[in-house]
Amino acid sequence: MFYFVTKNDNKFREVQKILELYKEEYPTFNLELAKLTIDLPEDIEIFNTYYENALKKAQYAYHQIFRPIITEDSGLEIDSLLGFPGVKTSRIFPNLSQEEKNWAFANMVSRLPTQYRKCRYVCRVVILFDFSRYYSFEGIVDGYISDQPLGENGFGFDPIFIYPSMAMTFGQMDISVKCSVSHRYIAFKKLFDFLREGDY
Ligand code: IMP
Repeated sequence: MFYFVTKNDNKFREVQKILELYKEEYPTFNLELAKLTIDLPEDIEIFNTYYENALKKAQYAYHQIFRPIITEDSGLEIDSLLGFPGVKTSRIFPNLSQEEKNWAFANMVSRLPTQYRKCRYVCRVVILFDFSRYYSFEGIVDGYISDQPLGENGFGFDPIFIYPSMAMTFGQMDISVKCSVSHRYIAFKKLFDFLREGDY
């Protein structure tokens, strides 16, 4: 049993879906994942990299239960804003609702040509077996910021994240589709491949 530490139910739902789809491909892969909600200190994500933030969360959680821990840290990076909001994505504009944040970015790019709307989602996963043995995996998916929020699915910035090869936002995708192409899918597939190969 591995414990996935998150307060975000959407992230946990997606990771469960990614695992379910992975098990369809590899039926003998019998990983069990439990959600662990612990009170992480407010200032735990103080680092400038997803990796350090994810590792710090894993170390903190391991110290609470002394069982193998999985964490992730993710964010949205907009090229023409030099990567903002990036690793600080969950903390920007604290007084705005998610819908207001989506409109803020959509309005900002609405007069810009497509090449200035490039963005990406980044996800960094850490698996920590004990204090001295941990591994990490990264997933990146490129996209464009939409000039208006579209779709009711997903969470966070999904209604303004256009996935170019399907010409729709993550907010317009069924969860199974998002979970076959997303940054989270890419990172967790690497983790599951690693665990399946058993070389750790
Ligand atoms: P953190 O990993 O808890 O620091 O939060 C990352 C933040 O990035 C989330 O609160 C969302 O705003 C955004 N984010 C990360 N992944 C996704 C995603 O798959 N969909 C939408 N927003 C995301």
